[in-house]
Amino acid sequence: MAWKGMPAMTKAADVYVTRLLPEPALQILREGGLSFRVWPDEGRPVPRDVLLQEVRECEGLLCLLTDRVDEELLAAAPRLRVVANTAVGLDNVDLAACTRRGVMVTHTPGVLTETVADLAWALLLAAARRVVEAQKTIEAGGWNTWSLMFMTGQDVHGRTLGIVGAGRIGAAVARRARGFQMRILYHNRRRNEALERETGAEYRGFEELLEEADFVVCLVPLTEETRGLFGYEQFRRMKRTAVFVNVARGAVVREAELERALREGLIWAAGLDVFEKEPIGPDHPLLKLPNCVCLPHIGSATVATRLRMATLAAENLVAALAGRRPPNLANPEVLGPQA
Ligand code: DGY
Repeated sequence: MAWKGMPAMTKAADVYVTRLLPEPALQILREGGLSFRVWPDEGRPVPRDVLLQEVRECEGLLCLLTDRVDEELLAAAPRLRVVANTAVGLDNVDLAACTRRGVMVTHTPGVLTETVADLAWALLLAAARRVVEAQKTIEAGGWNTWSLMFMTGQDVHGRTLGIVGAGRIGAAVARRARGFQMRILYHNRRRNEALERETGAEYRGFEELLEEADFVVCLVPLTEETRGLFGYEQFRRMKRTAVFVNVARGAVVREAELERALREGLIWAAGLDVFEKEPIGPDHPLLKLPNCVCLPHIGSATVATRLRMATLAAENLVAALAGRRPPNLANPEVLGPQA
């Protein structure tokens, strides 16, 4: 489907854009001299068959995390040279398959770091202090008087934060914890000495961290290694007063096991921005639990950050198709050993 502001096209588009993006991002493509077609619906992903059809002649694909870029898509797009993902996470893209075919993959790190860290804190505070449950209690007519132990939650200040996955966003979450006078623990594939120096964070093994932390914030990318990382056994190791927050990817958690852990009181509460299978509907079992705060994957959803993600994805795409090294290339090996 042609985007309505586009001149009538005499040849196939250079680029397919899988969602109606904000105008400044489309303008970057135009200024880059690219012809493009856009899936015109802002609120609904492009159907798979349309996507496979649209990419047949394309050299560039500007996509979202709702689009799967796999062998099937790559086979349907023999001219494809770059996939520009409008997200920092790349679990929707088969990076190895793209690399094998010499297709550059870009993403949007950096621009969403602080925004996602803010939301991790919103979830942490909301789950610890029962914010959503408390509002629902008023709505249900359940606020009868002020009483001593009514809606009591967990203190956040002065307690121990455990960050699993201490990359950029993890570091931003840790910096905020200093304002709450918290002790900070982290677990990561590699030690992050800069983080230790800046925030006083202490490295722990995964299991030690689960046992020591009052708040466990999950920030690991979804990979074959991290899929299902948090299950019943991991929640059992945590304190019964612990709060678990996930702003990474849903499949890092075995959701049915989390639900059981919350129901059995193995942990105090959870705050989730992401789910195994998104979107979740109103009947999702986690929504039925008073001690689980659920959000619709809005970690990076501020006006400024989403605009910046869209424009950065477009800039990456234009650079790659112009033969320049794109600023956020996730598979530099495609450029060869000199790159
Ligand atoms: C990402 O960028 O990977 C987030 O999940 C959406 O901001």
